Amino acid sequence: MEQQGISLPAQEFLPRHVGIIMDGNGRWAQKQGLPRSAGHKKGAEVFEQIVKDCDEIGIKVVTAYAFSTENWKRPQAEVEAIMNLLRSYLKRLDAMQKKDNGRIRFLGDKTPLDADLRRMMEEVEAASANNSGIEINIAVNYGGRAELVRAAQTLARQAMAGEIVPGDITEEMLSDRLYTHGQPDPDLIIRPSGEERLSNFLVWQSAYAEFVFMDVLWPDFNKEHLAEALWEYARRNRRFGGV
Ligand code: FPP
Repeated sequence: MEQQGISLPAQEFLPRHVGIIMDGNGRWAQKQGLPRSAGHKKGAEVFEQIVKDCDEIGIKVVTAYAFSTENWKRPQAEVEAIMNLLRSYLKRLDAMQKKDNGRIRFLGDKTPLDADLRRMMEEVEAASANNSGIEINIAVNYGGRAELVRAAQTLARQAMAGEIVPGDITEEMLSDRLYTHGQPDPDLIIRPSGEERLSNFLVWQSAYAEFVFMDVLWPDFNKEHLAEALWEYARRNRRFGGV
């Protein structure tokens, strides 16, 4: 398959769900003598474009790590800059879900977020809940372990209420209580910027994911890098523990 002169693997070799750890924004900004927030701004623009590219290519679900439960430790100005980028992106996301039929979900605990931001997030989730286009997951105040604790609490409450029997709890029942319920697990996780760790991203869901680590910084990431990651994924022989 070819798009805009970029060669891509055939549809049957593409991942259904791609996870992206948008890393390297700070380094990108520092390299040009700009504040870290400038890197996040460019990073948010790149994400918007990559979602469009994934949609064109035929990828069904894209999950991006925008803000982790650990990111609150960053300077307050940087936290505010990321939240403001989310605010302005939310307005465009709303237009996009109407036009392109995308379904938007936020993964993570919205409780500590500003009330206006939280309301906008809930509104765009509700407005797009029945859309059948690309699914866009944005992880905000997300941590994979916290997500598992939340699922365990839900299961425990249901067991206490006599709705389920502890010994009958299955993997599927746990998956159904994660933020990603109903979606396929990520087949491919891309982490640019040279770091090679999961950093508490989709801990349960990535059990069988292929990882592609790339040297490019996220603000420089483009469709050609995406194609490179998709080719790498297509080349790997996925056996799921079989032979
Ligand atoms: C990691 O790079 C990036 C983040 C912690 C924030 C990512 C957030 C955005 C791109 C903006 C909000 C997102 C959307 C979708 C509107 P880093 O800062 O750790 O980079 P470094 O490792 O070079 O310091």
